[in-house]
Amino acid sequence: MKKQAAEAKYRVKGEAESEEELEEKYVRVYIMGKEYMVPAGLTILKAMEYAGYRFIRGCGCRAGFCGACSTIYRLKNDYKLYTALACQTSVEDGMFLVQLPFTPANRSKYDLEKVKPTANTLLVYYPELARCVSCNTCTKACPQEIEVMDAVQAAIRGDIERVANLTFDCIQCGLCSIRCPAEIPQYHVFQMARRIYGKYIVKKARHVEERIKEIREGKYDEEMEELVASPPEKLKKLYKSLGRVE
Ligand code: SF4
Ligand code: SF4
Ligand code: FES
Repeated sequence: MKKQAAEAKYRVKGEAESEEELEEKYVRVYIMGKEYMVPAGLTILKAMEYAGYRFIRGCGCRAGFCGACSTIYRLKNDYKLYTALACQTSVEDGMFLVQLPFTPANRSKYDLEKVKPTANTLLVYYPELARCVSCNTCTKACPQEIEVMDAVQAAIRGDIERVANLTFDCIQCGLCSIRCPAEIPQYHVFQMARRIYGKYIVKKARHVEERIKEIREGKYDEEMEELVASPPEKLKKLYKSLGRVE
């Protein structure tokens, strides 16, 4: 253990004063099989960067929105394989980490103008949906807490509206798909359902259509040109006057 701590200390570049401080302020993680001591409280993404990894791919918004930082890990003495977003999950002592920069999944080609919102549309473009064995693994893998299996079942039934509503928060991270024993690309199915829903099913917002018409007719052109030409100080004052910033 002492030898381990000494080696790990080396890896934190001498930032801890003593072994006690090292154990208190740092956690031991294993990245791609190699041991590192990293500051407690860091996200997985930051811990990997701290350990020297550089993300050229597999990292985007750093805020839980883009779905680029899918990660899988195990914990010591725990049989489970965990899934997470690296930018949203803190490191824990004894984590065995690996980064998944990109995992391909089949995506059907379609022209939204020609697709019809019928009960079997999703099954026609994604026949693999029928292979679902209702194991719920996809739901357990989802970092957005989406009821993925329920959405897949709704897709099989042709309930496009339910699929769209259940998956509104999907960030296309692909973790459900990686874990699916039936190899279903759930997130591509869900995206198609939301597109069909938006185009053919949901009621059109009249006020948006009216505003678009006004914009096209040039009603705001002058005001917009004035804003674009304004110096930052003037824009800041304007923002403050609208009560949008402290
Ligand atoms: S449904 Fe799948 S792709 Fe979407 S956020 Fe959940 S795990 Fe990621
Ligand atoms: S993981 Fe795949 S097979 Fe299992 S419930 Fe989800 S979609 Fe169905
Ligand atoms: S980097 Fe975008 S969700 Fe993590």
